[in-house]
Amino acid sequence: MFWPSSAQASTFMPVQASKIAMHVDSLYEFLLWASLISCVLVIGGFILFSIKYKRKSESDRTPYISHNNLLEFLWSFIPFVVFMVVFAWGFFVYREMRTMPQDGLEILVEGQKWNWTFYYKSGKISAGELWVPENTPIKLVMTSKDVIHSFYLPAFRNKQDVVPGRYTALTFNAEKKGDYQVFCTEYCGDQHSAMLAKLHVVTREEFDRWLANDPYKGLSLTEIGQKVYGSRCAMCHSQSDVKMVGPGWKGLYGSSRTFVSGDPVAKVDENYIRESILNPNAKVVVGFGPASAMPTFAGQLSEQEIMAIIELIKGLK
Ligand code: CUA
Repeated sequence: MFWPSSAQASTFMPVQASKIAMHVDSLYEFLLWASLISCVLVIGGFILFSIKYKRKSESDRTPYISHNNLLEFLWSFIPFVVFMVVFAWGFFVYREMRTMPQDGLEILVEGQKWNWTFYYKSGKISAGELWVPENTPIKLVMTSKDVIHSFYLPAFRNKQDVVPGRYTALTFNAEKKGDYQVFCTEYCGDQHSAMLAKLHVVTREEFDRWLANDPYKGLSLTEIGQKVYGSRCAMCHSQSDVKMVGPGWKGLYGSSRTFVSGDPVAKVDENYIRESILNPNAKVVVGFGPASAMPTFAGQLSEQEIMAIIELIKGLK
């Protein structure tokens, strides 16, 4: 092999967290070297011949050249072989990447502007944090609530579009414990670049403990509100009075709101906040219309989490 050993992350590539990542990188390095060598041959020959065969005097005449069978065969056949190698290699890596495990751990992924929610079969719901046990085939079954997103795991060289109204799947097997970045790689609105999540690869025991653990145990309602805010609301709402995609939360509680629908002015109270979380289009405030940019959080937040958000907003005077 004339490219460096692929066991370790190379200078130009992120860490390789699975075998497939290694295979993708090997193929990529092959393509890189093949392109580099072709480039040197073509450009080098071009420069060399333009010097060597430069017209030396006015009486120089270009000789009559018709063809060269051997040369023409070689410059067709060698690239053909290289391309077929790339095709076959790519086919096998892609097949390996897209073959879903039969007995894998299935996790439902839901994308929406602008966060990721993970639903486990035990009933656990996690926002912005995907926990998986190491050395276990994982199958993500994914869908979107609004527009097309794309779930991307650079350390696994693996990504898949997440489309509203249908399920798509992605599989990986994490061989190295650690935290890895999840990106959205389909432009989905002005907070697209903030649509992030963390993948935590842990031991089976740690995973089981996490699955059974109540993340809000021992926290006050406002502290729970802060946690929910961090994973769900921070992309669009500030805790000051600064307007982002949505209104800032400071002083929101008790304030008067005017609506684009022309409905009577209303004061922000518990019921108003609850309705805005579950049905954001019910009352669209002047300056944020014509339709609400906020997706519904119905089914994603528990009653406890909704109450915690209300409590948090009430405290921001
Ligand atoms: Cu979601 Cu970009």
